[in-house]
Amino acid sequence: MIVFAKKTFTLTGKVNRWSEFDAGAAWASLAFQAEILALSTHGMGGFDDARAYEVAGLDKADYVAIAAIAVGKRGDTSALPPELAAKEIPTGRKPLQQIAFELSSKPDQKETSDDHSA
Ligand SMILES: Cc1cc2nc3c(=O)[nH]c(=O)nc-3n(C[C@H](O)[C@H](O)[C@H](O)COP(=O)(O)O)c2cc1C
Repeated sequence: MIVFAKKTFTLTGKVNRWSEFDAGAAWASLAFQAEILALSTHGMGGFDDARAYEVAGLDKADYVAIAAIAVGKRGDTSALPPELAAKEIPTGRKPLQQIAFELSSKPDQKETSDDHSA
């Protein structure tokens, strides 16, 4: 499925500058609910943007196509080729001190293995 954010409020027509934040929260809720239902999800930024608007019948002027999400039953890792099976391990998480801080202090800027820009 594709997550879209609607750029304006339906009721007033005014710009909703929180729409992408809300769409992100909705996707997180979907991921949590999927886990409750024993399903797995995988968010992807790499998808055919133009095709997403076409298939959904939505206008780029009104909506932002944010991410693609795969939902399904987790398969058996042993069925994967070795190079993919090797990736099926939990990835690192930044320690809390690096992502949450009081205004009087600064976050520790050291990079960890969860940098997706590589
Ligand atoms: C902004 C962003 C874009 C991503 N795009 C893709 C993608 O296009 N294809 C893909 O296979 N994984 C993509 N991922 C990675 C997966 O969604 C997932 O984060 C990754 O497999 C690590 O999962 P884990 O941190 O739960 O272990 C993206 C992750 C982020 C944060």
